[in-house]
Amino acid sequence: MPKSLPVKLPERLHLANLPTPLQSLDRVSELYSFPFNGPKIWVKRDDLTESGMSGNKLRKLEFVTAEALRRDCDTLITCGGIQSNHCRTTALVGARLGLKVHLLLRGESDVAVDGNLLLDHLAGAEITIYPRSEYAGNLSRIFTQWREEYLARGRRPFGIPTGASDGLGIWGYLAAARELIEDCNTLGFEPEHIVCATGSGGTQAGLTLGCRLLQVKAGVTGYAVCDDAGYFQDKVREDIRHWKGLTGNDIDLKSLKVHVNAKHIGPGYGEADPAIYQTISEVAKLEGLLLDPVYTGKAFHGLLQDLSNGKYVGCHNLIFVHTGGQFALFPHRQNFPFQRV
Ligand SMILES: Cc1ncc(COP(=O)(O)O)c(C=O)c1O
Repeated sequence: MPKSLPVKLPERLHLANLPTPLQSLDRVSELYSFPFNGPKIWVKRDDLTESGMSGNKLRKLEFVTAEALRRDCDTLITCGGIQSNHCRTTALVGARLGLKVHLLLRGESDVAVDGNLLLDHLAGAEITIYPRSEYAGNLSRIFTQWREEYLARGRRPFGIPTGASDGLGIWGYLAAARELIEDCNTLGFEPEHIVCATGSGGTQAGLTLGCRLLQVKAGVTGYAVCDDAGYFQDKVREDIRHWKGLTGNDIDLKSLKVHVNAKHIGPGYGEADPAIYQTISEVAKLEGLLLDPVYTGKAFHGLLQDLSNGKYVGCHNLIFVHTGGQFALFPHRQNFPFQRV
């Protein structure tokens, strides 16, 4: 296996606490994997990249904001759901760097100021909320309108797409793939599988591309939390194609394996079945590990189901990349069946 990525990383800011730990989940493995002849389960703790800025988006934003500063921009504009982890991270990163941040959020304007939205406000981000119907078909027009508005005000805006998932943000998880494989080398194993939650595709795209460039055997599977498998098959390839265009790399996209599991989405984005809340409670008690109901809880629940269905029979080591998102637990508090005593 090559010792380093065969590509030169672009400039990045150092905002995340790296490397994040790679930990074994012994009790989860004992209960949910070993009885089915499955692998040891490991977790890459990217929920520990920072405190408020925690999660996967910080890795992407290290590269994205370096580019924004290189272009001398002073305003970051980005978008997402009302409880977007990406938007919360961008709001805090902008505050840390002294940049204005404008968040274009999808949701209802009378929603409670809780979870990530509370942190967006604390970070001083400007927030515009669009009803779902308006946001869905008009996002690119809304972006253009705000970009022109900021230019007219004499500011220098920099647009970041949903989840910072594109050919620039992908560097975050290309570099993370290298870090993860180095962790595994140190611990003396080669993983057969790497899995993560997939929402806008960039984390999965970076890991998939990284493993390919590092000539690692591990398959990368994204557990989708919205849309369908076909959408992510295309989106992951689109991000890698964009990266190819930016870097001139000649990687063959046709031979790239993109694995998407879209069987555990449940009722839809941001909504979860009771079993997801059950898994979140159980994993917190078993391992002291906090998952969230929108991304990591769904993906982890899907993984546990697949382990018991025999999908990973005969494998030795599987890594779950914990991409953060715990602030979204709070707006979902009513879905956990706890009684006050
Ligand atoms: C906590 C968390 N996990 C996973 C994801 C999925 O990552 P990506 O958008 O790169 O697919 C996101 C964002 O969408 C997230 O906020």
